[in-house]
Amino acid sequence: MRGITKRFGQVVANDSISLKLFRGEILALLGENGSGKTTLMNMLSGIYQPDEGEIFKDGAPIYIHSPREAYDYGIGMIHQHYKLIEVFTAAQNIILGLNDGKMDIRAAEKKVKEICDRYGFDIDPSRKVYDMSVSQKQTIEIVKMLYRGADILILDEPTAVLTPQETRKLFTVLKNMKNDGKAIVIITHKLHEVMEVSDKVAVLRKGQYIGTVNTSETDPQALTDMMVGHAVTLNIDRPLYPEPKKKLIVENLTCVDEEGIKKLDGVSFFANTGEILGVAGISGSGQKELLEAMTGLYPVKEGSIRFINGDGNEVELVGMSPKKIRATGVGMAFVPEDRLGMGLVGSMGMSGNMMLRSWKNGKGALLKKKEPEELATRVWKELEVVTPDVNYPVRRLSGGNVQKVLVGREIAIGPEVLLTAYAVRGLDINTSYTIYNLLTEQKMKGVAVIYVGEDLDVLIELCDRILVLCDGKLSGVVDGRSASKEEIGLMMTHIGNKEAADE
Ligand SMILES: Nc1ncnc2c1ncn2[C@@H]1O[C@H](COP(=O)(O)OP(=O)(O)OP(=O)(O)O)[C@@H](O)[C@H]1O
Ligand SMILES: [Mg+2]
Repeated sequence: MRGITKRFGQVVANDSISLKLFRGEILALLGENGSGKTTLMNMLSGIYQPDEGEIFKDGAPIYIHSPREAYDYGIGMIHQHYKLIEVFTAAQNIILGLNDGKMDIRAAEKKVKEICDRYGFDIDPSRKVYDMSVSQKQTIEIVKMLYRGADILILDEPTAVLTPQETRKLFTVLKNMKNDGKAIVIITHKLHEVMEVSDKVAVLRKGQYIGTVNTSETDPQALTDMMVGHAVTLNIDRPLYPEPKKKLIVENLTCVDEEGIKKLDGVSFFANTGEILGVAGISGSGQKELLEAMTGLYPVKEGSIRFINGDGNEVELVGMSPKKIRATGVGMAFVPEDRLGMGLVGSMGMSGNMMLRSWKNGKGALLKKKEPEELATRVWKELEVVTPDVNYPVRRLSGGNVQKVLVGREIAIGPEVLLTAYAVRGLDINTSYTIYNLLTEQKMKGVAVIYVGEDLDVLIELCDRILVLCDGKLSGVVDGRSASKEEIGLMMTHIGNKEAADE
């Protein structure tokens, strides 16, 4: 790509960017939220055309007018949201749109199987998509591109929705593809992934190209400095709150799903004011159900969840509607996989979206008209949301910036119990630290913060205590200041580290 510029109205998303990609190489594309990564790659995949600049492949200029033309040039991009047809099988989805769909499905399945064997993918071509996990759907998207003969593959934050185990599998196939001579671009905010999987790293900052470095010659700190443009310190303060008091008591909480399978099994713990209580566990160990049960979104079969109000009285939350729970003072900064589907209205600006939530929580009817605007402005400034103004439609913002609006809104509402799940998913490293600091700030105001996270390093640095779930059961509670990653990792896979569970 040479001298590529792309504007959206006043916004210069890409400012004369030049980038080289080689065969047999994995290039990580790095940059803060809104720095122009997705936009730049969308010009390779035919979604946008550049306003200025040229694209060359194997030395010859190419003009990519549509995703179909991108396929013809051997370029395939895996977006964050998959566009598969749920009632079709893997193979049917893969050949969709080819040869008017008239291709022999047996032959297609055979070819799919060959691709899978060659690179180490693990999917059943005749299985229907609705039965599949997010990771399997992603695999289908990749196989679909390979089936079309892609030799350049672009993956936009592919690991944001994967478990560490699935990520490891993905990296193995990416390396296999690289060794087979493919050129791969991966966008990710997780620096340890950049270090692990890439050969080179290209950095963008505010729409500009900063440079490319060899992964073996750099480290996370240097990359962060390049991304941000000045030296940044990455550490999390963990002050002690003077007098923590019990704020939430959960006893023998048991939840079952529609098929009668126990998602939570006799879980008991408490959360204090002035504390960040971490929740660790392999994905699917009951974290989601726990948060949803606490906010009235998931049915509780047995047990109790008691909130201790300002007068010291216990209020039973089980059986209350989500709206009533919210009015009690339990706020949830749940960050869903589908950011725009849940919680935000894309056509509205930050301001409108603030108002939406304030109105929903019951007290909101009394809000003055100015308040949402003030809230929005605060979030905009504090989290440095990249947007021209607070009334700019949020669907035009970059993925990470949409997320900032979502998290910022929940914090700005000022709940007494703040539940967060995967709050930093999709956020660049600098913004992630801003969120950690904001959560700590909430804690020091006496809020009981519950933080469900995936990154053990962060859990250990940020949280006062960490609750470990294993297969729906409480494996134990550890002190964040003294726990080790190994200890927590073991508790995630083996129920009943007896000592801790007795606490
Ligand atoms: N369709 C669009 N209309 C208007 N502005 C857009 C559009 N797409 C992107 N932008 C703007 O272009 C800039 C770059 O966005 P882009 O999505 O490329 O960022 P990104 O680096 O992928 O960020 P993230 O890490 O948050 O995904 C942002 O300011 C964004 O608001
Ligand atoms: Mg993006």
